[in-house]
Amino acid sequence: MNNPKRYLITSALPYANGLKHIGHLAGAYIPADIYTRYLRVQKRDVLFVCGSDEHGTAIPIQAMKEGTTPQAIIDKYHPIIEQNFFDLGISFDIYHRTSAPIHHKTAQDFFEHLNNNGDLEIKESEQYFDEEAKIFLADRFIKGTCPNCKYENAFGDQCEKCGKSLSPEELINPISTLSGKPPVKKITKHWYLPLNRHEDFLREWVLNNHKDDWRPNVVGSVKSWIDAGLQPRAVTRDLDWGVKLPLKNENSKVLYVWFDAPIGYISATKQWALNNQKDWQPYWFDKETKLVHFIGKDNIVFHAIIFPVMLKLHSNILPENVVSNEFMNLEGDKMSTSRGWSIEMDEYINDWIKKENGGDAFADVLRYYLTAIAPESKDSEFTWKGFQDANNSELVSILGNYVNRTFVLMHKLCAGKVPPFHNELIDDIDKQLIVDIGNAKQKVEHLLEVYKFREAQFEVIDLARKANQYMQKKEPWILAKNLTENSNNQKLIDNCIHLCLQLTANLAILINPFLPFTAQKMLQMMKVVDRMLEWKNAGKINLLKVGYSLREPQLLFRKIEDEEIEFQIQKLNEKSKKVEEAKNTNTEVETKNTTLKPIIQFDDFAKIDLRIGTIITAEKVEKADKLLKLEVDLGFEKRTIVSGIALHYKPEEIIGKQVTVVCNLAPRKMRGIESNGMILMAEDTTGKLYFVNPDSVIDNGSTVS
Ligand code: MF3
Ligand code: ZN
Repeated sequence: MNNPKRYLITSALPYANGLKHIGHLAGAYIPADIYTRYLRVQKRDVLFVCGSDEHGTAIPIQAMKEGTTPQAIIDKYHPIIEQNFFDLGISFDIYHRTSAPIHHKTAQDFFEHLNNNGDLEIKESEQYFDEEAKIFLADRFIKGTCPNCKYENAFGDQCEKCGKSLSPEELINPISTLSGKPPVKKITKHWYLPLNRHEDFLREWVLNNHKDDWRPNVVGSVKSWIDAGLQPRAVTRDLDWGVKLPLKNENSKVLYVWFDAPIGYISATKQWALNNQKDWQPYWFDKETKLVHFIGKDNIVFHAIIFPVMLKLHSNILPENVVSNEFMNLEGDKMSTSRGWSIEMDEYINDWIKKENGGDAFADVLRYYLTAIAPESKDSEFTWKGFQDANNSELVSILGNYVNRTFVLMHKLCAGKVPPFHNELIDDIDKQLIVDIGNAKQKVEHLLEVYKFREAQFEVIDLARKANQYMQKKEPWILAKNLTENSNNQKLIDNCIHLCLQLTANLAILINPFLPFTAQKMLQMMKVVDRMLEWKNAGKINLLKVGYSLREPQLLFRKIEDEEIEFQIQKLNEKSKKVEEAKNTNTEVETKNTTLKPIIQFDDFAKIDLRIGTIITAEKVEKADKLLKLEVDLGFEKRTIVSGIALHYKPEEIIGKQVTVVCNLAPRKMRGIESNGMILMAEDTTGKLYFVNPDSVIDNGSTVS
């Protein structure tokens, strides 16, 4: 869609059940903000909406954990998340919330529209019911043994140990987390969105029309969903937290959170329109709206399959693109707030932005690094060292240094004013720089239009890099040593500083969508108004008037010291350790030792290839208190195995010990190390671990059965 009449940009609504981490920020918020800021300076009509997702079981579960009510939870986290986004420069036009009455009404109307048109199916089915609490149990309220890895505290929707997504029916020995009793099955009625009716549409729309302009990860997910066979999906739940069904006698049912949440984009648009005396309808009904969703990877099916089907049945528009990243890991492991392996936005803001005067530069540093390592096509990794490097050797040394030098020289050699440009003295180096400025604009613009934020930002820094080289070639400080009357040196200095200043103005325009706080500082130094940042000004070399006096430079970025980075790494390790310890002090071990697993057949057991091996090397895994990296000699080969025994054994104690190894377990990566097998350990009632080994030393590779 070229030059649509208006843009509607959405970022996934985060659950208001806790603090959000920088992985979330990198996925759905920073790219959307860059894109929106770019469209704004392009003077396009653009609306950027987001808000808190305040329904679903995530909220009551957090309430249980914190010993409070769901309402108290959303009222606590909604304002913090909103403020965090603001502090990091995410410039939503509205940050709404799905608990607002206007949202409930909008979602109910939407449901009614579909229901009245016969676009939903009603089906009865058996579902788990807690007879004591007298309610149907949401998947998350059922726990049991994972059929995949046998972890005993798996949830009805997912096993947190092995990561497999589950349905409650698959759990072995399910119990209700509300009463602690086994639930019973009871018949209930639900409304379904029959996705199967829309298969042809989805195939055509995504797999054909958008196969080239959408990212491969999104198209790929859609394809595998369609190929697996689309099923009707329940859009209602037996719950009391959520948007009530707009039907008589159905008071104990609510809309499924994934039905109501994306409608939050619509209700946010409505509320924004009310606040600003605008009309919301064109944004959702006029075909000339370009709707773009920015989301996290685990939201793909909802935005590329389910919500589009809903929109097709209700509105006039469909998303032009659904932009999703892959995952961003943190220091060698998956980011996760619940495991304490994360950096929360709130934490970052307190540690870096609020700590010092001018700390908002650190909002830009984070934006910069997260964009520079954005997992646009494959997973990537945040490391504190990488963060420090990006700051010190790119922002400080390239961008900050260039702007600072230009201003210092302008004050020293050109009386603090924009010097004239003497055309008769232009040379090839000047001409090349002018070409580079124009090219940078073209490239950045093109890359932003196709959602390649990482490369786009690279091009901006690359222009600053070229600018530094230009200055280095021109050496105005050398010219300044010989300013006799019949030399051209002052004129040559003028030309250099003139171009350097015009380039600085260009850098401000180009960097603005990415680093808005920095762009503002640059504007101040140049004493120009916001309007200069309009995109049409990029590529021009007459942005600053000759003779105009400019301010003293201020440092855009400061160096980050090693100690600051070490402190952060240590803090991260301590945080995750605390969380792990808290988890381990519960009664898990006891229940584990008393409840027997269900009967299996001999064939099940025979699938496991157990062998005796000898530990030949053992070392601690960096930054993982529990893990040891072992090399085990199995006779026929040596294997690397990562084992969670570091709290029980010192590496030097166990070298030479014989152990029993599960040899045919699928390899698994832990802290970046591929583990090829598992050591059997016995665990006593106190949680202490022991090796399981033969009663005298035998050949490595001996089988166990
Ligand atoms: N709350 C969901 C999550 O954090 C995202 C909802 S996006 C919306 O995964 F489209 F439903 F709003
Ligand atoms: Zn499992």
